[in-house]
Amino acid sequence: MKIVNSIEKLKTGLAQEKREGRSIGFVPTMGALHDGHLSLVKQCIEGNDVCVVSIFVNPTQFNDKNDLATYPRTLESDCALLEKAGCDYVFTPPEAEMYPVPDTRRFDFGTLSEVMEGAYRPGHFNGVAQIVSKLFDAVEPDRAYFGEKDFQQIAVVRAMTKQLELAVQIVACPILREEDGLAMSSRNVRLTPGQRQKAPLIARTLKESTNFVPGKSVKEIVGHVVHTINNEPQMRVEYFEIVDGNTLEPIENWADTTYPVGCIVVYCGDVRLIDNIKY
Ligand code: PAF
Repeated sequence: MKIVNSIEKLKTGLAQEKREGRSIGFVPTMGALHDGHLSLVKQCIEGNDVCVVSIFVNPTQFNDKNDLATYPRTLESDCALLEKAGCDYVFTPPEAEMYPVPDTRRFDFGTLSEVMEGAYRPGHFNGVAQIVSKLFDAVEPDRAYFGEKDFQQIAVVRAMTKQLELAVQIVACPILREEDGLAMSSRNVRLTPGQRQKAPLIARTLKESTNFVPGKSVKEIVGHVVHTINNEPQMRVEYFEIVDGNTLEPIENWADTTYPVGCIVVYCGDVRLIDNIKY
């Protein structure tokens, strides 16, 4: 496995692979890798000749300085995991490599980037689009792999790919969960043991809520989920919305879409957890 930290070295290595006719798969990450990331890497390896993983904690997508400062950074163990998984290239650029000058681009994805995460984390998706477009430019992958835990991010990345007319295929991969249902996330390590014990309530409540569909209305389901989670003293729902999975527009009736998805963010103490479920 090659570890490279400059775009030039990465491009040189990958140009050779491409000349020899190999397909390139890409998994962008911010490190602190867990089994969820490794499932993306596995899919990437299975579907391509060459697997590239990037590790870069992207400052432009954080709208909270403290979140950026406390984001877990575990480069050495990440590289060991990737080597074991069979990754071919790890791209670990320093900040100056990705942002030699400030990126002033402003993307417009309409509703896709304005609702939910877009409303609660202003500028977040603009930062995601900035870094993902730069990474796609560096790697020029045939396929790129994203986890469905960040459901809205996939919609935004697809829109960006279309806007920039990039040839990369975006592959959405299912959420990986701990045995007790908690969606795997790099932020889970920040939970205290007590919070970690409570956190599976999110996935449990979402799953349970699917049993009441279509008998109960969208509004009743939303109320039930929010009430059940907020009843737990350490937890606070930031938002829970049931949306059309393609447009991300909130729905009022089940008949409004054939693809209803419930998207939730919950603060467990000061740790922000995200999850979603298809109805
Ligand atoms: O999902 C993430 O980890 C990040 O948003 C991504 C796609 C690596 C961009 O920084």
